[in-house]
Amino acid sequence: MNRHLLSVDDLSREDIERLLDRAASFAEVSGREIKKVPTLRGRTVINVFYESSTRTSSSFELAAKRLSADLVSIKAQGSAVDKGESLKDTVQTLSAYDPAAIVIRSPHAGAAALVARWSAASVINAGDGKHEHPTQALLDLYALRRRVGPLEGLKLWIVGDVMHSRVARSGILAFSRMGCEVTVCGPPTLIPRGIESLGCRVRYTLDDLAEADVVYALRMQSERMEGSFVPSLREYAGRYQIDGRRLGAGQLLMHPGPVNRGVELAAEVIDSPQALIVEQVESGVVVRMAVLYELLAGGGGSGAGERRAAGPLGETTEPQPA
Ligand code: CP
Repeated sequence: MNRHLLSVDDLSREDIERLLDRAASFAEVSGREIKKVPTLRGRTVINVFYESSTRTSSSFELAAKRLSADLVSIKAQGSAVDKGESLKDTVQTLSAYDPAAIVIRSPHAGAAALVARWSAASVINAGDGKHEHPTQALLDLYALRRRVGPLEGLKLWIVGDVMHSRVARSGILAFSRMGCEVTVCGPPTLIPRGIESLGCRVRYTLDDLAEADVVYALRMQSERMEGSFVPSLREYAGRYQIDGRRLGAGQLLMHPGPVNRGVELAAEVIDSPQALIVEQVESGVVVRMAVLYELLAGGGGSGAGERRAAGPLGETTEPQPA
C-alpha cells in the first residue's frame, strides 16, 4: 500500500481486502466496554476539515482516539484560514508538530495530493471537492460485505447526482475493483460524459432498476451546482427518488449521508430494514481505524514521526527502534 490514501486507485484488490479484514478485527475492539488500544500511542494525527462534515470528521476523530493517537482537529472556521492563511502555510505550520498523519477534507479537487507534496506525514483524503472520497468507498464495501458476504458479481446501481459526487467516483472504482457490476443512473445533466471509463454502465431512467441487488442513492449536492441541472427538485424526485414503490423487497439501499429526505429518498425506505445507512456510519470508525493502522503501523507506509511496532489490537506497545 502507498504511504498516502488519496484515491481508491492507490489500492489494489488485495489492499482493500486486507483493510476490510483489519476493520473487522477492530470491530471486536468496538464491541468492548473500553474501546481503546495503544497501537498509535505517542503518534499525532491532525484532522483538517475545510468543508462541513459530521460523519467523516467524527469517525476519524474516534478512530484516532481509539488507537490512542494524539489528535488535533482544525476546521476552517475559527482557524487562521479566517485570517487568510493559505492551505500550504497551514500544512507547513501543522507539520511543525511532526504528525504521523494528516486527514484533509477540502472543497477543492486535488487538495489532498497537494498536502502530500507539502508534508512528510501520511495524507488521507477525506473528500476533495468532486474528485474522491476513498474512505467512504471502503466503509461502504465493509458495510455491504458485513450484510451480504462476498461482493463478487453483485449488481449495484448508483442513482442521482453523479456529476458532483466524489462518493460516486470512489464508489465506482472500489465496487468494480471488488467484482461488482456497477451502473450509474440519473438525468443526463447529472452524469459526467465518459464516466464509463471508470468501470460502470450508464442509464438515464430507473426502468431497469429491478435488476439491482443494491441501490446506492446519492445526495443532490445543491451547494456544488452553479446553474440549474434539473427543472426542479420536485420533478427530479418524481423521476429518480427511491421510494417504497421503486425499491424491491429483495433490494438493499445505501446512501453516504447526509440525506435530503423527500428528495433522493422517501422516508419509508430510509427507515426500512433494507437500508444500510446506519451500518455505513457505524462502519466508518473501524474502517478509518484500519486505514490509520495500515498507513502508520501496518507496514503499508513509512509515515512520519516516531515509529512504533504494535499489533492492531496493541499486542506490543513499547516504542521500537526505527
Ligand atoms: N458521507 C460523508 O462524507 O458525510 P459527512 O459530510 O457528514 O462527513
